[in-house]
Amino acid sequence: MIDHKGLIISINFLVLVLLCMEYDFFVYVSGEVRCIERERQVLLRFKKGLIDDYILSSWRSDNIECCNWRGVVCSNTTGHVIGLQLPGDDISGYYLEGEISSVLIELHDHLNILDLSGNDFGSTRIPEFIGSMTNLQHLNLRDSNFAGNVPPQIGNLTNLQTLDLSYNNFGGNRIPEFIGSMKNLQHLNLGHSNFAGNVPFQLGNLTDLRTLDLSHNYDIRFENLSWISHLSFLSQLDLSYSINLSNIDWVQQILLKFHSLQELHLQGCGIINVVTPYLNSSSISLSTLDLSENELNSSTIDRLFNSINVTANLRKLYLRGNKLERLPSSTTRLPNLEDLDVSFNSMEGIISEADLSELRNLKVLDLSFNSLILNISPVWSPPFPQMDAISLAGCKMGSHFPEWLKTLNNLSWLDLSSAGLSGEVPDWLWTNLSPWMQYLNLSHNHFIGTIPDFSSKSTQFIDVSSNNFSGPVPLFPPSTRVFQLSQNAFSGSISTICAVHSYDFLMVIDLSDNRLAGELPNCWENMTQLEYLNLANNNFSGEIPRSVGSLFYLETLHIRNNSFSGELPSDLRNCENLGLIDIGDNMFTGNIPTWVGAFNLSIRYLSFGGNRFHGIIPLEICSLTQIQILDLSRNNISGNVPSCFDNFTWLVEKNTTSVVFTAIGYVFTVVENFFQEYVDYASVSWKGQESEYYTKNLRLLKLIDLSSNRLVGNIPETFSSLKGLVSLNLSRNSLTGSIKTDIGQMEMLEVLDLSHNHLSGGIPIGLGQLHYLDVLDLANNDLSGEIPSSTQLQSFNASVFAGNSALCGRPLALCRGDGPGPSTGNQLGDTDDDENDDGDGDGTLTFLEEFGIPIILGFMFGFWGVVASLLVKK
Ligand SMILES: *[C@@H]1O[C@H](CO)[C@@H](O)[C@H](O)[C@H]1NC(C)=O
Ligand SMILES: *[C@@H]1O[C@H](CO)[C@@H](O)[C@H](O)[C@H]1NC(C)=O
Ligand SMILES: *[C@@H]1O[C@H](CO)[C@@H](O)[C@H](O)[C@H]1NC(C)=O
Ligand SMILES: *[C@@H]1O[C@H](CO)[C@@H](O)[C@H](O)[C@H]1NC(C)=O
Ligand SMILES: *[C@@H]1O[C@H](CO)[C@@H](O)[C@H](O)[C@H]1NC(C)=O
Ligand SMILES: *[C@@H]1O[C@H](CO)[C@@H](O)[C@H](O)[C@H]1NC(C)=O
Ligand SMILES: *[C@@H]1O[C@H](CO)[C@@H](O)[C@H](O)[C@H]1NC(C)=O
Ligand SMILES: *[C@@H]1O[C@H](CO)[C@@H](O)[C@H](O)[C@H]1NC(C)=O
Repeated sequence: MIDHKGLIISINFLVLVLLCMEYDFFVYVSGEVRCIERERQVLLRFKKGLIDDYILSSWRSDNIECCNWRGVVCSNTTGHVIGLQLPGDDISGYYLEGEISSVLIELHDHLNILDLSGNDFGSTRIPEFIGSMTNLQHLNLRDSNFAGNVPPQIGNLTNLQTLDLSYNNFGGNRIPEFIGSMKNLQHLNLGHSNFAGNVPFQLGNLTDLRTLDLSHNYDIRFENLSWISHLSFLSQLDLSYSINLSNIDWVQQILLKFHSLQELHLQGCGIINVVTPYLNSSSISLSTLDLSENELNSSTIDRLFNSINVTANLRKLYLRGNKLERLPSSTTRLPNLEDLDVSFNSMEGIISEADLSELRNLKVLDLSFNSLILNISPVWSPPFPQMDAISLAGCKMGSHFPEWLKTLNNLSWLDLSSAGLSGEVPDWLWTNLSPWMQYLNLSHNHFIGTIPDFSSKSTQFIDVSSNNFSGPVPLFPPSTRVFQLSQNAFSGSISTICAVHSYDFLMVIDLSDNRLAGELPNCWENMTQLEYLNLANNNFSGEIPRSVGSLFYLETLHIRNNSFSGELPSDLRNCENLGLIDIGDNMFTGNIPTWVGAFNLSIRYLSFGGNRFHGIIPLEICSLTQIQILDLSRNNISGNVPSCFDNFTWLVEKNTTSVVFTAIGYVFTVVENFFQEYVDYASVSWKGQESEYYTKNLRLLKLIDLSSNRLVGNIPETFSSLKGLVSLNLSRNSLTGSIKTDIGQMEMLEVLDLSHNHLSGGIPIGLGQLHYLDVLDLANNDLSGEIPSSTQLQSFNASVFAGNSALCGRPLALCRGDGPGPSTGNQLGDTDDDENDDGDGDGTLTFLEEFGIPIILGFMFGFWGVVASLLVKK
């Protein structure tokens, strides 16, 4: 995926910042105070209601010139405050919270512009008083966490030219009809806001409308579409994922009607067919056409373009995720085309130099994830030297590095992942790496060799994972956001990472599955943005440095399977956003720290298994109410099992699944609004096998593993309230007492291992009534009596019950007379031993079969412009 827009947005932003700085400077020098004192007082009162660390820091009572305050726009002639532009700051991650004070009404006579986008107003309703600010011309409340319905008072804002309510959550309310009476509206954005119901036809009264975005409101309906044809000045229309069109007929009509239409976005509208065209082609001015995520095939596209002769104007064409079987020949003859995205189709065949020779203006080309063969000579000189972004992921290009890319020296985005490439990466890629290069993905090939220091470049995303790169971890640039080197043969220490000048953007470090060794350097305190750290499966040793505790935003910590030792530094408690902590299979010592309770709001996955922890399980562990996977197995932990496990809310509830496992993620987009999740994995011991699973579906798994310790006492009765628990392993301890009868309440149990303890008494009938139970082990205890008769228990292998000398009944030998166990109407039938041995074949859908193996940490972090503020907030 290629993000072209992102680049543009960030550059614009820079320009804006520079302009602002210059402007401030100008005013400061001129020395006149324009600000009106009464209005300044209003602004100070307005500030009082808000929680803010940064955005309003220039709004100070000792700062007289309020016209210089950040976000305040004054009239050059009258000095009145005419605009408040207070968007959350994507780059720094700061945003406003708290109350939008109604003192703003006092600015009502002059205020034209109110922009509160990208802030977090905590799911409150849009304040009614805003409806009284009737001189407003521009109101931007995008992505500010507003909820409820849109108050009717907003309908009084009849002077509005721009209204942006997108990226909020209007919880299934209808789009208000009163918007239709805002006759001056030119720009209306209601996308991504969870509106539902019929779209009011009154919107057809907005005859001045230039842009209309109703996209991603999955539950809105269009009773009829005729009102749209009244919007004769429309130049941008986005109905992606909000309308079901099946037939492209409507698209053609719309193109015919709107001579001014320049951008049309119809992603995910279920479009299948194209009907016989009848358009007067000379009238079409379309420059952007987005038909991604529909059902279109190549001949449909060819027919569309052959009929509507758009060749002169079309600049951006997005056909991602359709059913194209080949590159539609019409698309290779669009001389002004700048962006072509045909990724995620099922195209086959060969792309040659000739196919691309007419596309002289191409800036973005995305051919990824098809089955294309690129047959291009290494000495080819492409007709598009200005190319900005190219993705050839999954294309076959022969085994050697595509040397022709060398001529594209403005690239900001290069994705050659999963392309079957091998050998060394040519030096020019690193040395000539364009100063603009932001995204470089060489992952999933067979590259060898070392990677030189490229810290003088400006790369933000670097992914060379799943290759055979070796040598030391290279020094990366301070601009890096994602540094992904996993599954290679990198070796040596990682102390070089301390030599990076700054880590202001660093969000992801993944060095897992390499041959790295030595102690961790102690330079983590400046990596303030780090959310994801994965050092698993290397040979690191020594203690965890205290500075790891400064990673306040850390959500995921994987250091499994190294040789770390010593006690965990208590500074780790500061990482209170941790959702996943996996320190399993190391040599950590000491007690399970009581401060784990500090993770009470966040943690879902905690694995301390396979270390040398001793002492008791601290009661503080029971404050981890969000926990879904708790693994303390294979340590030297003693004492009782705490009886407060019924505090684990997620394990108690049967049908709950967390929305996301932990919340981090990349957003890479060619077109706005397309999300790609970052794939993380976690290690889980499931049915006796330790495996790594993608974490997306881990959100459905609920597991406790306390096996192989020195725990004593009874299994607490509270366990039976863990009605959502899927897997419980208490084996290889010294537990005593009986298996409680109400174990039958743990309805979701698929795996139960109580083997190698000293449990006594009978096997309760309830155990035979656990419908999903698939793996059971009760061997090597002191259980006695008759195994309750039920198809379920009898279907297990006899070894499941072995080593309990006083236990009898199928599948073990028959009992002699009445045993002391719970006796049921057990027919003493045949003694055949050849019945089905494992419990797998009974047709029960088990957890992973039902939900698929890969499990992703619903990884969702921001990437520049469009969606960035969503991310920072979580
Ligand atoms: C005020 O004047 C400055 C400098 O000429 C200009 O950049 C700015 O746009 C003007 N502001 C308004 C609101 O007209
Ligand atoms: C604003 O709208 C409300 C509700 O729609 C209405 O009752 C009120 O009279 C309006 N106020 C003004 C000043 O127009
Ligand atoms: C096609 O549209 C153009 C420009 O709008 C107009 O001049 C021409 O007459 C139209 N031709 C037909 C056949 O309708
Ligand atoms: C690199 O490409 C692979 C496979 O195409 C993809 O899974 C991965 O997410 C990409 N990496 C980044 C950082 O985008
Ligand atoms: C962290 O940043 C501060 C201030 O920029 C600097 O003085 C300090 O040396 C840095 N620490 C490390 C370990 O890089
Ligand atoms: C149970 O969880 C609550 C928080 O929801 C916590 O305050 C309480 O201390 C926990 N109980 C125990 C026994 O840890
Ligand atoms: C486990 O802990 C006990 C003391 O609690 C100690 O005697 C024993 O050596 C420990 N075992 C291991 C393998 O560390
Ligand atoms: C329970 O844990 C032990 C290791 O402590 C492991 O050997 C066994 O296979 C696990 N049981 C199940 C059913 O996963």
